[in-house]
Amino acid sequence: MPAQALAVERSKGEQVRRALSAGGWLRGDLQPQREAEMVYFPVQGLPTPLPDTIVGTLVDREFEPATPRKARDYRELVEVPGELRDLLPSSFDIVGDIVLIRLPDPLVPHGKAIGEALLSFVPGCRKVALDRGVEGVARVRSLETLAGSGGSSTVHRENGLSFRVDLEGAYFSPRLAREHQRVAELVGPQENLLDLFCGVGPFALTALRLHPEARAVAVDLNPAAIALLRENASRLGVSSRLEIVEGDAEAFLRENRTFSRVVMNLPREGYKYATSVAQHVMPAGTLHHYEVVRRADLPQRGRDLLQEVSEATSSRWTLGAPHVVHPYSPSSDLVAWTLVRDD
Ligand SMILES: C[S@@+](CC[C@H](N)C(=O)[O-])C[C@H]1O[C@@H](n2cnc3c(N)ncnc32)[C@H](O)[C@@H]1O
Repeated sequence: MPAQALAVERSKGEQVRRALSAGGWLRGDLQPQREAEMVYFPVQGLPTPLPDTIVGTLVDREFEPATPRKARDYRELVEVPGELRDLLPSSFDIVGDIVLIRLPDPLVPHGKAIGEALLSFVPGCRKVALDRGVEGVARVRSLETLAGSGGSSTVHRENGLSFRVDLEGAYFSPRLAREHQRVAELVGPQENLLDLFCGVGPFALTALRLHPEARAVAVDLNPAAIALLRENASRLGVSSRLEIVEGDAEAFLRENRTFSRVVMNLPREGYKYATSVAQHVMPAGTLHHYEVVRRADLPQRGRDLLQEVSEATSSRWTLGAPHVVHPYSPSSDLVAWTLVRDD
C-alpha cells in the first residue's frame, strides 16, 4: 500500500526509529523496508521542516501491512465489558490439549468470549473448559466447554512422563506435578510404596519410573481412575512392579500389610484415615499425608497429627516441616505433612 516514508541511512536507522516512535510519527500498521544502504520507515504527521532528531528524506513508497504483534496475555484478546476486565483471571491450567479456567460469577456469561480468546492464545489447545471444581467421592471435575471441541480425555505430560487422563472421569490436577516429583525423589531405590487414593497414579508411577527396583501398590475406588492407571502403568513400562487395587481404602487397610512409604492424597477427608494408615508404615518408614489447613492452624494441626499417629501406633514418630504444595483459599493451603516412624 502506498504511504509516506522516511528514507534513512541504515547506520542511523535505530536512532531515527526511536525518535519517530517517541514522536508518534511511526506507523505501526505497515512494515518498515530494509535495503542494502537505506531503511524506509512508514510515517504520518511528520512536521516540516523535519525535527533535528529525524535525519532522513521524505519520499513516497509501497509498504506491506505489518504482521500483528502476538498477544503476551490472553486478556489482550478478550472482549468483555470494561467494568469486568479486572475480574479476568491472570492464570489458567493446561492439561494435555485442554485449558481449564475458573471464572468468578459475573464473568460466567462471557465464558464463550474468554474460551475463544484462550483457544487462539494457547498453542496446541483443542478445547477450553470452565472448571467448576471437583466433586463427589471420586473427586471428579465438573466442566463446561467454553470453546473448541472433543471430550475430556487427553494425554498430559509432567516431569517428562506422559499420563492418559480423563478430566470428567477421574481426578487429575496439573498443580501437583512438582509434588509428584518431590515425593518420587525422596523414595529410596528399593522401597515398597503404598499410593492410597492414587487416582490415575502419578505418585506411584513417577516413583517407579525414577527407581527401577522400587515396587508399589496403588489403591482407588474409582473404576475410571483404575482403568487409566492400568493404561499409564503399561505406557510407562512399570506394570510388573505395580499392584493395582480397585476398591475402598478401608477394605484395603483391613489387610495386614506394611510399607516403607505411604502416600495418602485425599486432602479433604484424609485426616479420617491418618491413624489407621499409620499402622501400615514400617519402622523407619515414612507417611506423606495431604491436608487443606488454615494457615492460622498450621502449628497446632502439626502437633495434633503427631500425637494422633503416635498414640494409634504406640510408636515414636518425627514430624517434618510442613510443605505448602499450593494455596487453596485466601486463608488456607494444601499442605504435605511428612511423618517418619522412628520405631
Ligand atoms: C485427590 S484425588 C488424588 C489423586 C492422585 N493421588 C493424584 O495425585 O492425582 C483422591 C482420589 O481418592 C479416591 N478415593 C476417594 N475416597 C476413596 C476411598 N474411600 N477409597 C479409595 N479411593 C478413594 C478418589 O477416587 C480419587 O481418585
